[in-house]
Amino acid sequence: MSPSLYESPRIYDIAFGWEPDMEVESLTEAFMRYGRGKGRLLELGCGGGRLLPPLAERGFNVVGLDRSAEMVAFARRRTRDYVGRIEIVEGDMADFDLGQENFDGAFCMVDTFRCLLSEEEVKSHFRSVAGALKPGGIYVLDFSLVGDPENYPGDIEVWDMEREGIKVRTVVSAGVPDLKNHRERMVITCTVNSSDGRYELVEESVVRPYTIADFRGFVGRSGFFEIAEYFGAGFDIDRPQIPDKHSTRITVIVKRIGS
Ligand SMILES: C[S@@+](CC[C@H](N)C(=O)[O-])C[C@H]1O[C@@H](n2cnc3c(N)ncnc32)[C@H](O)[C@@H]1O
Repeated sequence: MSPSLYESPRIYDIAFGWEPDMEVESLTEAFMRYGRGKGRLLELGCGGGRLLPPLAERGFNVVGLDRSAEMVAFARRRTRDYVGRIEIVEGDMADFDLGQENFDGAFCMVDTFRCLLSEEEVKSHFRSVAGALKPGGIYVLDFSLVGDPENYPGDIEVWDMEREGIKVRTVVSAGVPDLKNHRERMVITCTVNSSDGRYELVEESVVRPYTIADFRGFVGRSGFFEIAEYFGAGFDIDRPQIPDKHSTRITVIVKRIGS
């Protein structure tokens, strides 16, 4: 069996190491326009922490939470020059307590939200995030929707990245979403070419597929949040876009309600 990608954070970081500027710019603007402005942020499923230093450079104080010990160790190394501005915590985003009303905003990128499989986990996730946020704080989620059934089986995406003499070809393939049982198989395969030779890392996971109606249902039933704005693929903060049944990728801003 090939080793797991999430246990090889350096390779993950090269494979998914695209330029974060646009994402960081849009996140910054989202917290300024829709939320409580500059303050303390929480990233759920922060992985190797690629977004944390650029957000700290823009004046935010950031806590990243991830359940993978390898990712946490990598993120801590990456952010060691940001003492007092960035903190990395090992934990489960399905259920956590980082202090009540301790954060001005939260975010969860790159389909990480879909790793929460059961309805119970999603509910307790929203409860945990709401507890962590101050009133009026926003939570930004970036994830895929199922889109048109006639386009199944899902996409196969392939891209190449190179850094530090290491070449990585990444193939992401999604299976046909099982909407009845809320399951979709996703396989990420990274083929690595370096001075150590050629090898493969594979992350096989099951994620939860969403229609926009499923997501709206969770937000409405949570009792903690309301939807503030939608954006399409690429998260351009100047171009809000209400999803329809063809949409396959969204960024959603939900706002914590109540005092
Ligand atoms: C696709 S990576 C995204 C990393 C990061 N958000 C980014 O934008 O590069 C997903 C990350 O979520 C983490 N993860 C998955 N389920 C989790 C959970 N229940 N609690 C905490 N972290 C989780 C994994 O360990 C992995 O680091």
